[in-house]
Amino acid sequence: MAGIIAPSILSADVTKLGEDVALVEKAGAKYLHIDLMDGSFVPSMAYGPAWVKQLRPQTDLFLDVHLMAVHPENHVEELAEAGADLIGVHVEATPHIHRVLQMIKAAGVKAEVVINPGTPVSAIVPVLGMVDQVLVMTVNPGFGGQAFLPATVAKIKELADYKKDNGLDYDIEVDGGINDKTIVMTAAAGANVFVAGSYVYDKKDPAAKVAKLLDLTK
Ligand code: DX5
Ligand code: ZN
Repeated sequence: MAGIIAPSILSADVTKLGEDVALVEKAGAKYLHIDLMDGSFVPSMAYGPAWVKQLRPQTDLFLDVHLMAVHPENHVEELAEAGADLIGVHVEATPHIHRVLQMIKAAGVKAEVVINPGTPVSAIVPVLGMVDQVLVMTVNPGFGGQAFLPATVAKIKELADYKKDNGLDYDIEVDGGINDKTIVMTAAAGANVFVAGSYVYDKKDPAAKVAKLLDLTK
């Protein structure tokens, strides 16, 4: 089955965001990855629920919201109302990951747990049965354009094996440094949802970049 490409608008041109989103949708992307950064869990700041709300009527893409914030529980309801299709929460951002995932599901939104490069899979095993998607960060979160960390590939494989061995059906997403080389490595390890920011948007022709990534997962 072909992978799902999730262009990250962190690298898009905010002055023509509607156009940048339409381009990738037409090219075959199925998800739109929206990074919310609070300047505390990660050093930088980006977007917020208002962006999700304004993008919602502009596109049919599945809105894949990556929440990089402390106290994630404070944002769940607003993001659900804004039209998020999925909310991803970092296990490192809360002592109550199970409760936050329950809140997301109760809000009628798909739930994702996220792990940083320094966090082992064992930290999320207790919640793997309740999530729709797991995000393995393949860079340290906070910025676009960083180099892929190869040591994260073993965790993708571990999650794919765990899924199979336990009859679970979560998607495995990767985020950070994904390009025409790293998408092949991560797909081989078992990832099926691929976030790409700078590879898609930094240079020319985002549509061609999406088409190429899509092709490489077939
Ligand atoms: C980083 C973000 C990513 C970012 C990826 O913290 O979570 O979604 O946009 O950017 P690239 O693809 O350039 O590494
Ligand atoms: Zn992200």
